[in-house]
Amino acid sequence: MKLKLQKLKLSDTNRFAELANNKRLWLNMRDTFPHPYTIGNAISFINFSKKDNDNHIFGIFYNNELVGAVGLHGQEDINRHSVELGYWIGEPHWNKGIATKAVALIVDFGFKNLDINRIFASTIESNLASSRVLEKNNFIFEGVSRKSAFKNNVFLDEYNFSLLKDAY
Ligand SMILES: CC(C)(COP(=O)(O)OP(=O)(O)OC[C@H]1O[C@@H](n2cnc3c(N)ncnc32)[C@H](O)[C@@H]1OP(=O)(O)O)[C@@H](O)C(=O)NCCC(=O)NCCS
Repeated sequence: MKLKLQKLKLSDTNRFAELANNKRLWLNMRDTFPHPYTIGNAISFINFSKKDNDNHIFGIFYNNELVGAVGLHGQEDINRHSVELGYWIGEPHWNKGIATKAVALIVDFGFKNLDINRIFASTIESNLASSRVLEKNNFIFEGVSRKSAFKNNVFLDEYNFSLLKDAY
């Protein structure tokens, strides 16, 4: 599979917004991910992703076509050696193994380039595909945060996963 992670460019804006503007996708994301997702939202996000800070955000390119995004987000204080992993894939490309491979690539990037010992992610209880992506990348299930998410007017459990550098 020809999969690459590359920094997003403003020329990716239209396709990015087109893929991101999807309620089925939004239902599995934090509410900071807008819906509807406008061209303006895509421009803001792409500009944010270009900044040099402790967010490391990439576009996911499958056969040179933009299909989604993935990022590692730095934490603070005593959690400063942990990063949170986030990702999404546009619906036309679901179930082709793309997220699994993109997570493998960003885990490799993170442990090789950042001063971190842990990568973590949480999925809401209904998002079994995302839990599976983490399991396929050897993330360990840490437990459930009971009804910690309020999404689309429903309280949902969150499943917590992590991968430690030692185990990588
Ligand atoms: C979750 C998401 C990233 C998965 O991306 P993807 O590229 O389709 O994932 P992959 O193809 O690499 O792997 C999906 C796995 O989940 C499985 N799966 C898919 N739907 C499933 C379901 N409803 N129940 C159980 N497993 C499911 C697939 O069979 C596959 O596992 P397998 O290889 O063992 O068969 C994608 O659906 C998405 O972007 N969803 C919306 C946003 C989101 O959830 N982001 C993550 C937030 S934590």
